[in-house]
Amino acid sequence: MKILIINGPNINMLGIREPNVYGGQSYQELLRLLKDWAAELDIEAEHFQSNHEGAIVDEIQAAYGCVDGIIINPAAYTHTSIAILDALKAVSIPAVEVHISDVSSREEFRQISYPGQACFHTIMGQGLEGYHQAMIVLKNHLSKQ
Ligand code: DQA
Repeated sequence: MKILIINGPNINMLGIREPNVYGGQSYQELLRLLKDWAAELDIEAEHFQSNHEGAIVDEIQAAYGCVDGIIINPAAYTHTSIAILDALKAVSIPAVEVHISDVSSREEFRQISYPGQACFHTIMGQGLEGYHQAMIVLKNHLSKQ
């Protein structure tokens, strides 16, 4: 089982950006955790992070026929990107949306998720552990297919 984990803009600044919201662990620490969780669940996981919307669209398109599932934290593009929504719909790869913070209890402009509309599940407010939960949910979903 092969999955692609996509992180959007400013996720590479974890540990530096608003630690009161996103915690004190760095993006490198997140990558290490993802590696451990992938090994624990016997999943092959690839990682991609970009600050550019089109690069994320390109990555989703390139995943067509290559991966079984996607975990995506579109970060700020969550609230603006119909292009990422359309890319997820175009490839029809089962996807789980993750947010480190609890976006539902934050500003009004964060209350809409466009890419989330192409995801079968959303996890939010669990910190980095949310990616672990997303892997479990995705693995269970793919195992049933
Ligand atoms: C985020 C929430 C978004 O609203 C924000 O723009 C981010 C990170 C999260 O993981 O909590 O950059 O996706």
